[in-house]
Amino acid sequence: MSQPSDKALVPFVSVDHMMRLVHRTGLEEVLRGLADYIEADFRRWELFDKTPRVASHSAEGVIELMPTSDGEVYGFKYVNGHPKNMKEGLQTVTAFGLLADVGNGYPVLLSEMTLLTAMRTAATSAMVAKYLAPKGATTMAMIGNGAQSEFQSLAMKAICGIDTVRLWDIDPAATAKCAANLAGQGLRVVPCASAEQAIEGAQILTTCTADKQCATILSDNMVGPGVHINAIGGDCPGKTELAPGILTRAGVFVEYPPQSRIEGEIQQMPQDFPVTEIWEVIAGRKAGRVKPDQITLFDSVGFAIEDFSALRYVRDRIAGTDLFHPLDLLADPDDPRDLFGMVQRAAPER
Ligand SMILES: NC(=O)c1ccc[n+]([C@@H]2O[C@H](COP(=O)([O-])OP(=O)(O)OC[C@H]3O[C@@H](n4cnc5c(N)ncnc54)[C@H](O)[C@@H]3O)[C@@H](O)[C@H]2O)c1
Repeated sequence: MSQPSDKALVPFVSVDHMMRLVHRTGLEEVLRGLADYIEADFRRWELFDKTPRVASHSAEGVIELMPTSDGEVYGFKYVNGHPKNMKEGLQTVTAFGLLADVGNGYPVLLSEMTLLTAMRTAATSAMVAKYLAPKGATTMAMIGNGAQSEFQSLAMKAICGIDTVRLWDIDPAATAKCAANLAGQGLRVVPCASAEQAIEGAQILTTCTADKQCATILSDNMVGPGVHINAIGGDCPGKTELAPGILTRAGVFVEYPPQSRIEGEIQQMPQDFPVTEIWEVIAGRKAGRVKPDQITLFDSVGFAIEDFSALRYVRDRIAGTDLFHPLDLLADPDDPRDLFGMVQRAAPER
């Protein structure tokens, strides 16, 4: 069998490559780098193709495709969300994604995105908190101590300068895992006995739980003035974390309203419930936090442009390194119209 030409080969970043990239660069440096790429793409938000993600729901979870393009590069992510997976020894969220050249449609990168999604979600949260959290925030309550939790904590440290995380999860094993993983990472880690205890003295409240139902992780009376809420886990129809009363008292910031109104905390509110698109704050067109005692809420669901930015970051980081494998992904006949002949001329297997 003849060897595929360069045109057939697409750089593939495996899970192993991604872990090596993180170790070589340092996790906090990767999180800062991702935040910079995401922030840069949010500044040029208007030129992207935007569509709510295409979701296929089942009783157990959801499988989604998240496409976008900036006119030169096209990207998409495949991602699932299955809260019951964890009990079966599987991940709640797994993902992979691709970038392609808009000019000829050829893929230019295929990458694992389970790790990358956790890092891009954390980087987005912290980048947004930089604009919305009260000045001088030092302490975050981390409610839900699962797969995303350490990344969320370290991104808030690296990008917003917090020094303390207060952990709460209904499963003490999750809190113990998160506390052990964060030991020695430069954060004061305080395991707590309830959500109420976790939010004591915290200026940033992150909710990152997984349950395929409307839950009340934060009730209205738990949220006092001047905090920033980073709501991550409410990201599907019928899956929310906040009491609606919080939304009416907060300045609510979202990624892409047509998707957030279906999937976010604001699915609980009327279709015309006022929100600010976070890119407008980043681009200097709208105000972020307007006063110290305001409650700000980032009602995050995860948008395709964040994944596009993350893949762009990976593509730039792996260039000229051994952190990818050239994958024989595209059929590449000598004569582009002779696909059939290419098959016929292939040496038969012995
Ligand atoms: N907004 C985004 O961009 C984005 C990105 C990735 C994941 N997510 C969502 O974030 C959530 C967390 O993801 P993960 O990968 O960390 O999931 P995970 O299953 O690894 O962890 C979830 C944790 O939440 C805990 N939990 C469930 N109910 C709780 C409650 N009432 N109070 C406290 N803790 C509770 C569970 O015990 C578990 O430890 C998921 O719902 C996922 O869909 C959102």
